[in-house]
Amino acid sequence: MSLAVSRAGGGDRTLAPLGRRASRVVANEPTGGYRLLSAVDETGPVPEAGQFYMLTAGTRWGGDGRRPWLPRAFSAATAEPREGGGVRLGFLLEDVGPGTGSLAALREGEELLITGPLGRPYSDPTDLNPDAAGAILVGGGIGLAPLAMLRRSLADRGIPQRSLLGFRDRAHAGGMELFRCSDVGLASEDGHVGHRGYVTDLLARMLDGDGAATAAVYSCGPPAMLEAVRLMCAERGVVCELALESPMACGFGACFGCAVPLADGGYMRLCVDGPVVRGDQIETAMPAGSGHR
Ligand SMILES: Cc1cc2nc3c(=O)[nH]c(=O)nc-3n(C[C@H](O)[C@H](O)[C@H](O)COP(=O)(O)OP(=O)(O)OC[C@H]3O[C@@H](n4cnc5c(N)ncnc54)[C@H](O)[C@@H]3O)c2cc1C
Ligand code: FES
Repeated sequence: MSLAVSRAGGGDRTLAPLGRRASRVVANEPTGGYRLLSAVDETGPVPEAGQFYMLTAGTRWGGDGRRPWLPRAFSAATAEPREGGGVRLGFLLEDVGPGTGSLAALREGEELLITGPLGRPYSDPTDLNPDAAGAILVGGGIGLAPLAMLRRSLADRGIPQRSLLGFRDRAHAGGMELFRCSDVGLASEDGHVGHRGYVTDLLARMLDGDGAATAAVYSCGPPAMLEAVRLMCAERGVVCELALESPMACGFGACFGCAVPLADGGYMRLCVDGPVVRGDQIETAMPAGSGHR
């Protein structure tokens, strides 16, 4: 059964069933420089866009003192409810270390241990800005994962949205098909696709060209890109929500490893008060040890 609680200023979150459960890998396919790992969660609820799972590859995790020891956090990139209950989940992976390496090696039929869905999802545009005419989605690299799910959720409900995606180079690009839409603005630093430069160049053009006052911006990507989006929106008085990363050991509020400084002092635990945060809530979108560059 799926449960939801409402939080002031944030989207409804779907709560995770207690404890870790086993799901079954049904596909693990390359997509550009990334992999899309799909698994069937027989009993879990359908996540909201922006929520994440703590993942462990059943029999391919550590042992003999080798890393990884702890589960790793991954955004839900796709979530398709199944007739009779449960959900088929898709995770977009970039192989950057022992955890992502083990997950990338999983084969069909193997076990994937999951805890989730966790964290606070993206809000609806009109919850962020009552005058919002639609959403602008800005993704960088592997950060397109939660935005793919957000785009589909907005489209299913008839909420207008425009998408901008940026990549460092060909090796750090993939998953664009998850957007299921041909009208996506593209940028790459090496010029292999779309505008040669940063995706934030496209965002600046869009915000300055039209409709900044009625926009709500949603973003996920490397910290430097998120910080640029945050500052760009702040300068123009545009509301934005960012999905951040920080090192997560537990994913549900117990270890305090994911603390991120708040704009008005103090800290938030990103796993329970994020990973989606409003731009004006935080001091910086570049918390230490974020992982992806
Ligand atoms: C909410 C959330 C959602 C996420 N969603 C996704 C997703 O959809 N897809 C995806 O591929 N990843 C995602 N990540 C990132 C992923 O969880 C991490 O990259 C994870 O650490 C990878 O594990 P690993 O064992 O492969 O690599 P690790 O050994 O953990 O290393 C990962 C990278 O971080 C660097 N690093 C490690 N520790 C530090 C440190 N202390 N300071 C600075 N850099 C450090 C390493 O050099 C390496 O580049 C998400 C993270 C969070 C918090
Ligand atoms: S990851 Fe443990 S408190 Fe956030």
